[in-house]
Amino acid sequence: MTSASTPEHEIIIVTPEMTMLWQQCYDIRVAVFVVEQGFSIDDESDEWDETSTHLLVRLVPSLKPVGTIRPVWTPGYYKLSRLAVLKDYRRFSFGRALVLGLHDWVRIDAIKNGRNDEVKIRAHSQLPVKGFYAKYGYIPEGDEFDEDGAPHQLMVATIKLD
Ligand SMILES: CC(C)(COP(=O)(O)OP(=O)(O)OC[C@H]1O[C@@H](n2cnc3c(N)ncnc32)[C@H](O)[C@@H]1OP(=O)(O)O)[C@@H](O)C(=O)NCCC(=O)NCCS
Repeated sequence: MTSASTPEHEIIIVTPEMTMLWQQCYDIRVAVFVVEQGFSIDDESDEWDETSTHLLVRLVPSLKPVGTIRPVWTPGYYKLSRLAVLKDYRRFSFGRALVLGLHDWVRIDAIKNGRNDEVKIRAHSQLPVKGFYAKYGYIPEGDEFDEDGAPHQLMVATIKLD
């Protein structure tokens, strides 16, 4: 369910070979993490980018890209990473839609790959957004730690597959 003021939108699944859409996801990441938040462009790409799916939320009918998120399977658990909504489009429930869309993607991927009856999703949360992740079942684990020069908290959600 989205709020009454949530603009019309769609979420699409973007694989690396969909180069134009992949670039739109990456451009949102750069706008948010590099331009807005000041992280180094050198830290933006990582070893998972070449093979990983993104989810992209875009407005309809304009198809303007406004947010993205990237699920990654790494042995033993999934990672929620690179969640970003453009500044002008926050608080319209797009972040929520992306996290719940990632959970759906994880369920499908986990069942397809014969994983157990539940899987873990780990997120490295920036401290100001811990409350956002908590709304979707993410629980803090361990101490805060530095990542790319900013304090983060490991947050873990458990997804049932039945
Ligand atoms: C975090 C982020 C993705 C949230 O996106 P958003 O579209 O504004 O969030 P939504 O509108 O879907 O909010 C969903 C709920 O979370 C709440 N929320 C949003 N941002 C929050 C925050 N920073 N702290 C606590 N709660 C927050 C909303 O109030 C809403 O609550 P409700 O359902 O009770 O009304 C967005 O602020 C963002 O891109 N931030 C910069 C990048 C970033 O920090 N990414 C995470 C890296 S770890």
